[in-house]
Amino acid sequence: MRVGVIGTGHVGLVSCASLALMGHQVVGCDSDPEKISLIRSGVAPFYEPGLDDCLRDEMASGRLTFTSDVQEAVRGAEVVFICVGTPPRASGEANLLAIEQAVRQFARYATGPAIAVAKSTVPAGTAGRVQRVLLLERPDLAGQLDVVSNPEFLREGTALEDALHPDRILVGASSPRALETMRRLYEPLLNHGCKLIETDIRTAELAKHACNAFLALKISYVNALARLCEKVGADVVTIADVMGADARIGRAFLNAGLGFGGYCFPKDIQAFERLAAGLGYEFTLLREVARINEEAVAATIEKMRGVLWNLEDKRIALFGLSFKPGTDDIRFAPALALARRLIEDGASVVGYDPQAGPNAKEELPELEVVLDPYEAAVKCHAVVICTEWPEFRSLDLVRLRNALIFPLVIDGRNLFDPSDMRAAGLLYYPTGRPPVEPDDLAS
Ligand code: UDX
Repeated sequence: MRVGVIGTGHVGLVSCASLALMGHQVVGCDSDPEKISLIRSGVAPFYEPGLDDCLRDEMASGRLTFTSDVQEAVRGAEVVFICVGTPPRASGEANLLAIEQAVRQFARYATGPAIAVAKSTVPAGTAGRVQRVLLLERPDLAGQLDVVSNPEFLREGTALEDALHPDRILVGASSPRALETMRRLYEPLLNHGCKLIETDIRTAELAKHACNAFLALKISYVNALARLCEKVGADVVTIADVMGADARIGRAFLNAGLGFGGYCFPKDIQAFERLAAGLGYEFTLLREVARINEEAVAATIEKMRGVLWNLEDKRIALFGLSFKPGTDDIRFAPALALARRLIEDGASVVGYDPQAGPNAKEELPELEVVLDPYEAAVKCHAVVICTEWPEFRSLDLVRLRNALIFPLVIDGRNLFDPSDMRAAGLLYYPTGRPPVEPDDLAS
């Protein structure tokens, strides 16, 4: 099929690559010409494992092209994916201006029957507005331009894999023709057993919010438990295992730590809460989810103060600056929230990240960024594990201990075995688990 994709952010670019891999003829477009020339050279504007190679292969095959002219992407396309950003307004509501503009462009340049596919997470009811714009802009194509809600569930760091092997494909549509087109589009995945869930448009829109908010709820739940565990000396990891052994609960997204970040959960929860309030329902549970998440950074600072006392004359190393492993994305990263708070409190802060160092430095110039974890630890009073990059698991703990001027590791992702820390002579404060304290090292 001939497919256009408007917007080459994370969702847009991964959609381009995966749709081309499925065998479709794809034209991706973005209003930023510099971004387009970078992508044309085979380099994604962000780090996503496997994406650069995939883009190069698919461009070489001729199935994938890029343009900064939206007309080229829309003209002749049977399906046009709308993958533009929905940043938060000051009120927390999603700003849908880019969606409206993309939809107007779709309407202007459509040359025949076509479907606008809403991929971005949008408030329920958005597709209805889109449909009205299509009718007003192109009365000549009345009944031929459709809108479909097809929310994306991919995760950064495993985005290609998620796009090609999704748990389910969700399509919300109001016309049989649109549904049939979407079935044809995803046929290569459906033939491999992927489940297709077809709903009305509003249900699909709301379902995406429901999924993200529920995952965030699981994380905040386990983080609240972690606080309790620290008070009574229990182990939150074992509790999560016990909970996870119950098939009704499941173990995923029950990892306690510094909390969730990224460009989806924090803003989507706020937008969902605003959306509900706008509809006359106070979804206060979501406010609690966000509050508990913010508490995680504050709790880490309190833990640090508990051991180091004043922070003004201390130097702290942060390991991992991205919001999660496998990405260079630092948007709403708990590590940066922590860095800001520590700097405000007078500490000097140095960070190391396998991918996100340059982005972090640009966002927070006061943060010193180095290229090696041991170098980061030199003359520091504490290391905080902020992101569970796999390479941290194989750190030489004795070398780390020797680089530090005070042997403290605060583990915001429960990456280490306390007995290894103790053996290396490190004071160790995990999240929601019993720590290795000075008395333990002495004995
Ligand atoms: C998320 C959703 O998973 C995805 O379906 C949606 O399309 C976009 O938003 P993403 O933001 O890429 O994906 O990351 P995800 O892997 O979900 O992690 C989000 C945050 O939660 C990260 O900061 C991560 O560190 C944190 N997290 C995750 C925890 O703190 N504990 C967990 O148990 C799991």
